Amino acid sequence: MTGSYAAAQGPLCEGAAVSVFLLPVSTQDYAIFLEQAADTYVVGATHSGEMTIEQARARADADLKALLPARPQTPGMLLRTITVDGDWVGHIWLGVRGSAEAKYGWVWSVYVDPQHRGQGYAELAVRLVEAEALDQFGVTEVRLNVFAANRGAIRLYERFGYAVISQVMRRTVRP
Ligand SMILES: CC(C)(COP(=O)(O)OP(=O)(O)OC[C@H]1O[C@@H](n2cnc3c(N)ncnc32)[C@H](O)[C@@H]1OP(=O)(O)O)[C@@H](O)C(=O)NCCC(=O)NCCS
Repeated sequence: MTGSYAAAQGPLCEGAAVSVFLLPVSTQDYAIFLEQAADTYVVGATHSGEMTIEQARARADADLKALLPARPQTPGMLLRTITVDGDWVGHIWLGVRGSAEAKYGWVWSVYVDPQHRGQGYAELAVRLVEAEALDQFGVTEVRLNVFAANRGAIRLYERFGYAVISQVMRRTVRP
């Protein structure tokens, strides 16, 4: 399978057995997008031991509301459904951060349905949304946050060149 960036909504993968597209998240699909983005955050935050389920759920709901005031049409945000041969397999969400002089892309969420994992769709989606962000916003750097317990996602990002720039560490202090 090979991937190439043609256009925001163009074919992302051709010449192989499947055809992968990134499409804007529609108003109808927005509720499921929100649910998956929130669930991904809650799983990551609770597995890492950073928060309780209730704290993580409240944080996810508040962040999603604040970051996406105009829902899928929020300026500076690329909310994309990943489709394979016309079928929905997941989503990817990238936004622009930083100042006008030093802006960068931020991957807020990537999700692939469990039955479609391990086939390179997330890797392709990240590469394609990076290309779209460069095209639309001129960003030449992309950053993201990943919980330490999410080894699969870390391997995925490291494989195509993401490197750690800061780490949160913790220790339990007992009297
Ligand atoms: C993390 C996540 C997005 C990865 O999605 P994915 O589509 O399975 O990712 P990829 O297929 O690109 O890569 C995953 C694995 O498949 C393998 N793979 C990639 N292309 C492949 C192919 N053509 N055939 C077989 N395996 C392949 C990769 O080597 C990788 O293996 P590894 O786990 O040993 O490194 C997915 O597991 C997910 O949605 N998790 C829940 C949400 C989440 O945690 N998101 C990340 C938050 S930071």
